[in-house]
Amino acid sequence: MPDDTPTAASTAAPLGDPADYRKALGCFGTGVTVVTAHHEGVDWGMTCNSFSSVSLNPRLVLWSIRKEASSLQAFTQSGGFTVSVLAGAQADLAMQFAKGAMPERFAGVPTSRQASQRLRLDGAAAWFDCTLHQLVDAGDHHIVIGQVQDFGWHEATPLAFCHSQFGMFQPITA
Ligand SMILES: Cc1cc2nc3c(=O)[nH]c(=O)nc-3n(C[C@H](O)[C@H](O)[C@H](O)COP(=O)(O)O)c2cc1C
Repeated sequence: MPDDTPTAASTAAPLGDPADYRKALGCFGTGVTVVTAHHEGVDWGMTCNSFSSVSLNPRLVLWSIRKEASSLQAFTQSGGFTVSVLAGAQADLAMQFAKGAMPERFAGVPTSRQASQRLRLDGAAAWFDCTLHQLVDAGDHHIVIGQVQDFGWHEATPLAFCHSQFGMFQPITA
């Protein structure tokens, strides 16, 4: 019989130290994106590392947005969003799009306006232009699911984020 006895870690208080919990989550390395929207004539953008692919057929992707984000309405009511996957050389943009007012976050940032009217960041490793497919209420965030309508990519080392630090993906060589 397999031993199903819970380990010490799994029996720890579920509402333990929040800082410790964030450290545990920080062990999961991700890429870094800037998601953009165009709402009532204004461009919106925010740094986001909760991006993930969900379904290949149809092509669905997701990310989550804090319910208190100032851009919540833009992302939930404008009908879509564009995800720019940041390249390693764009770490400064990850910080620029995590603070400050809109639309000044775009100041000095090379962008291209798409047929959807949403901006994408030039030089991004990849981009996905999406229509809003579904919103899921999830605690202090909403999960935003989009259907990919257009995408592109080019050879570039993507930016990585782990343990609250930015870095570059390094393949393991045999
Ligand atoms: C690396 C990184 C990843 C982030 N990922 C997310 C995310 O997935 N969802 C989110 O709501 N906020 C995320 N944030 C925080 C937002 O970028 C930040 O709170 C937001 O831009 C602040 O804008 P606001 O004025 O709309 O609240 C992230 C920040 C950083 C630096």
